Amino acid sequence: MSLEQRLRDGSAIYGVVGLGYVGLPLAAEMAKSGHKVIGMDISAGKVAEVNAGHSYIPDVPTEEVAELVGKGLIEASTDFSRASECDAIAICVPTPLNEMKEPDTSYMESAARQIAPYLKPDTLVTLESTTYPGTTEEIVQPILEAHGLKVGTDLCLAFSPERVDPGNPVYQTKNTPKVVGGVTPDCTAAAVAFYEGFLDSIVPVSSTRAAEMTKLLENIFRCVNIALMNELLQVSERMGINIWEVVDAAKTKPFGFMPFYPGPGLGGHCIPIDPFYLAWKARQFDMHTEFIELAGKTNEAMPYYVVKRLMEALNTHRKPLAGSRVLMLGVAYKANIGDMRESPAIKIAQLLLDAEADVVYHDPYVSEFAVGGCDVPYVDLSETSLQEADAVLVVTEHSNVDYHQVVRSAKLVLDTRNALKTFDDNKVVRL
Ligand SMILES: NC(=O)c1ccc[n+]([C@@H]2O[C@H](COP(=O)([O-])OP(=O)(O)OC[C@H]3O[C@@H](n4cnc5c(N)ncnc54)[C@H](O)[C@@H]3O)[C@@H](O)[C@H]2O)c1
Repeated sequence: MSLEQRLRDGSAIYGVVGLGYVGLPLAAEMAKSGHKVIGMDISAGKVAEVNAGHSYIPDVPTEEVAELVGKGLIEASTDFSRASECDAIAICVPTPLNEMKEPDTSYMESAARQIAPYLKPDTLVTLESTTYPGTTEEIVQPILEAHGLKVGTDLCLAFSPERVDPGNPVYQTKNTPKVVGGVTPDCTAAAVAFYEGFLDSIVPVSSTRAAEMTKLLENIFRCVNIALMNELLQVSERMGINIWEVVDAAKTKPFGFMPFYPGPGLGGHCIPIDPFYLAWKARQFDMHTEFIELAGKTNEAMPYYVVKRLMEALNTHRKPLAGSRVLMLGVAYKANIGDMRESPAIKIAQLLLDAEADVVYHDPYVSEFAVGGCDVPYVDLSETSLQEADAVLVVTEHSNVDYHQVVRSAKLVLDTRNALKTFDDNKVVRL
């Protein structure tokens, strides 16, 4: 039976390499559609958790993992020879930047190297990690082919970017359209058959490079527009204009405008990192992606701007930042989740500590917050903790925070998210 037939008739066994924020929801979705899934990860801890029926990813309920493991549909392993049992394997490993802000492709390379010796002929491999155009064919393909099987004749290889938005109540893995681009048209067809087996909507494109670039376009679009808003925030503040009011007014235009909001800086796994993958690759083509560099520079300056505005606000209370108690309210990178990856709160807390402020934090979703190896003390949100703070700094706009209590009890609030837009009070300073 051909690979495409096996993928279409439901008999194919699926593999997922890397069981993190992307891989575990993907594995759960595959298994929910009735396929047997083998998850492979270098983390023995994660493998043990999955096999015990526990989820460590907020968007995947533990009961769901327990049920799927109980039915024998998901199994996890640190043994990469299990790749030999799979008909289709999705690679979902990290793609960070190194300290020089250059792509670190080592995780993708090691993942490909781990499975390559075990691939049987007629297997599909897809790469889901966000990366620069060219990675699938320049880096992954030669590693997979090192043991004799050739892509296009013995193996299928495609790139399919993950678009998961942690905490999104409407769009999850299953109902978010999936872009796929294969090395050859047959590779694309196999990848379409694979993803159609468990996802609602598949969008084939002409090449792996087009698929790789699609993901980068999506994230660069956000990065550049957020940077634009951060610049407009600063000019509006000088002009005495409320930029949030302006965005809300502009978004009443029913066509040709999409709202983006300013804030304390970028966070999360994607937007602060992915644009630099393209900027790096573009240099190989004698191109400098100036929009991306400028957006990165503008967004990276925001934590410094927040601290400057906090100093100015404290100044009006005749308080220096050094020695002032600052209660950071919300430290996760976005509202209503506890994800701390690349959160701007980390940089802001570091700058405040460098300035010798007395920093504490409250976040209903984050129980530990360490900066530069030092724990930032957690405080409950109470009349006492609010009154003890010289300033409350709203970094994340969690909706389960009692902002009435904050405004009632705090001496001064700097709101970087417009969380307090309904409060007209002199003690509330908007970024
Ligand atoms: N998290 C998101 O919101 C999101 C959204 C879209 C795209 N992405 C992209 O998806 C990719 C994965 O991101 P993530 O958030 O799932 O990362 P993650 O850190 O949550 O998970 C990665 C997993 O891969 C495992 N791993 C690392 N090296 C491995 C190897 N050689 N073999 C097997 N397992 C290995 C790790 O142990 C970990 O469990 C990245 O490229 C990221 O940019 C992430």
